[in-house]
Amino acid sequence: MTDTTDIKKGLAGVVADVTAISKVNPETNSLLYRGYPVQELAATQPFEAVAHLLWTGELPDAVALADLRATEREHRALADEVRAVIDLVPLDAHPMDEVRTAVSLLGAQDLAGSGSVLAASGSAEDNLRRSIRLFAALPAIVAYGQRRRRGQEMVAPRDDLDYAANFLWMTFGEEADDLVVDAFNRSMILYAEHSFNASTFTARVIASTLSDLYSAVVGAVGALKGPLHGGANEAVLHVFDEIGEAANVSPWLDDALENKRKIMGFGHRVYKRGDSRVPTMKAALDTLIEHYERPDVAELYDALESEFVARKGIYPNLDYPSGPAYALMGFDTLTFTPLFVAARVTGWTAHVMEQFGANALIRPLSEYVGPAERHVEGYVPDAADVEVAERPEEAAG
Ligand code: CMC
Repeated sequence: MTDTTDIKKGLAGVVADVTAISKVNPETNSLLYRGYPVQELAATQPFEAVAHLLWTGELPDAVALADLRATEREHRALADEVRAVIDLVPLDAHPMDEVRTAVSLLGAQDLAGSGSVLAASGSAEDNLRRSIRLFAALPAIVAYGQRRRRGQEMVAPRDDLDYAANFLWMTFGEEADDLVVDAFNRSMILYAEHSFNASTFTARVIASTLSDLYSAVVGAVGALKGPLHGGANEAVLHVFDEIGEAANVSPWLDDALENKRKIMGFGHRVYKRGDSRVPTMKAALDTLIEHYERPDVAELYDALESEFVARKGIYPNLDYPSGPAYALMGFDTLTFTPLFVAARVTGWTAHVMEQFGANALIRPLSEYVGPAERHVEGYVPDAADVEVAERPEEAAG
């Protein structure tokens, strides 16, 4: 029997594998993508370049960036069949269900005719192509989701706009201000990758069975939907709506803490003294607050942060500034987690490719605590059962 002190509930503190994609260092409060500090990337790079970095290990030169952008443009438009399957999802279902369904269809279409499951994992070239396809297709899926919930028509992509500007165009049907495009681009970069978080680990578990990249991403979308993970950016806005204004923070917090509520947008499994991505996203939020002339948002944000940190010593995570930033840009609260998908698909797919490159089936053990062995009344074992029971030790499947 395992000593229960050896069990790492939630796999907390367990190093499950090596990765060359990103490094989270809670001691120095830094996050590196392939060695580059994420705040440097957010300040200097378009999201397409960061996607290239995560997938290949290097930032693209001008030719590689132009190539990636050309391929991205080829896959931008929402295919009729994908639109049709999105339209089948009830309007009052969560948009993450829509995204999960759309990714699943994209996978089935791309893998049609691929034959036996033995070939599902594909070659490195196949998987880079599949990653770019998903990266390019997700903005239209997310944008159309928000528009159909608002009763608006789909907006076709524009070839003269790069990824971030085109994403905003397809969502709102008008060209966004440069400052807004920049804040949005930064948010995509900050959300792109974060080592073995729950959704990425889910993707790696699925890839480790030598299933396909699309299936891994569908699973990751499901994991990201939860409010303890990606759903937190949406939950932050629900909290802001509940509180209403800065003056209500103290009584609201008294009540929430008395009822042992988790305050969304605060706390992190890895960072205990603050999330390294927050200052960059907070700076982007500040520019949006000024641009949209919304000092009330800053007041509520600051009041909740300072009072919660003073009372609990728990700091904001990336979802805390990104939630109100997306709201100011005009995104509906329900669209926030799908935006996280559009960003994190780069990290997920980089991890799937890394997993395929040095695979070991992910299959941990568990400590059984259920009833001791017992038998169905009246059952008489036959010879085959006895034979199996007497077989020498075998690995569990
Ligand atoms: N509000 C209130 N109490 C909290 C919070 C919070 N946001 N976060 C942690 N705590 C308390 C928790 O109640 C516990 O207290 P006690 O020891 O008295 O029971 C203690 O701090 C440790 O919490 P934990 O849940 O065991 O810590 P964890 O490392 O398992 O949880 C977390 C990390 C992110 C799940 C948690 O902080 C949380 O639920 N936060 C709110 C949801 C959220 O913002 N999630 C987004 C995470 S960052 C984006 C991402 O990576 O997806």
